[in-house]
Amino acid sequence: MAVRKLRIHPDPVLRERCTPVTSFDQELHQLLDDLGESMYAHKGLGLAAPQIGVPVRALVVDVDQREGAPRLLEVVNPELVATSPETVVGEEGCLSFPDEFEKVKRPLRVTLRALDRHGQPWELTGEGMLARALLHEMDHLEGKLFIDHLSRLKRSLVERRMRKLQRAAS
Ligand code: NI
Repeated sequence: MAVRKLRIHPDPVLRERCTPVTSFDQELHQLLDDLGESMYAHKGLGLAAPQIGVPVRALVVDVDQREGAPRLLEVVNPELVATSPETVVGEEGCLSFPDEFEKVKRPLRVTLRALDRHGQPWELTGEGMLARALLHEMDHLEGKLFIDHLSRLKRSLVERRMRKLQRAAS
């Protein structure tokens, strides 16, 4: 297992539409292990494969780690089954946008179908933070980022700060 380098916006891999996982082999297991380890190391609630530079449909989420009871969800090839009509506005961040937090409106509940690391199907309904994290990470698989949910003004402010960060790093 290894903590992998995070891809930071505007890295083009973050805008790719990710390809489905077809082999449930050692390579996938390594990817999921690295996703989990990298998420915990960077104190994220979720991490999608493109964020470590691998544009495939795999992600991890753990919204319970802060309560001292980690529950790692490994999600492969997820499909949205249903979202609640009720929405909730909540603060959201992303490991590909260091120190950026913005309010985003999301469905309160989500049901999804996915595969586990062995290719076995499972289904999950999540609410609140879990629903938010799952929807945020699933967006990543479409090359969609949380700033896409913001107003143009807010988005341009985030983009400006990210360019500044990029200049400072280079
Ligand atoms: Ni993210």
